[in-house]
Amino acid sequence: MIAIGSDHAGFEMKEEIIKYLNKKGIEVCDCGSYEYKSDDDYPDFAHAVAKKVASRECDSGILICGTGIGVSIVANKVRGVRAGACSEPISAKLAREHNGANVIAFGSRIVGMEMAKAIVDSFLGTSFEKMHRLRDEERVRKIEKIENERNT
Ligand code: RB5
Repeated sequence: MIAIGSDHAGFEMKEEIIKYLNKKGIEVCDCGSYEYKSDDDYPDFAHAVAKKVASRECDSGILICGTGIGVSIVANKVRGVRAGACSEPISAKLAREHNGANVIAFGSRIVGMEMAKAIVDSFLGTSFEKMHRLRDEERVRKIEKIENERNT
């Protein structure tokens, strides 16, 4: 199950990505926004997606805002979440392989619809297991150690 969320800036793109994934038979948990509201706030939806991934209710998350930056900052505040903002598929793949990313973020004002789909395909098509290099795993353990030092 994949969690997905966006603010108003990413709303249209989110709706398209949901349809795209559903067509492929991939189950999606929509964490909002559920309608276009120009004054909604990206932290609300990024937090909702991050919690689904952190709790392991969902395997991975997709976040969309204007740039992908705001939602990734928020998601990375949640323990256990490793979100990467990217604007092309190679970084999406490497975010999984090198950083063990469990959330991918991108911006509707930065990438077009076809690029967004390519990013999603690349991210979902790369599993954590591909993070085979011991050094990468050790680096992720270091990230977790830093998280555990935090008082949240
Ligand atoms: C909303 O206008 C915009 O600031 C937001 O979607 C995002 O780009 C923030 O990082």
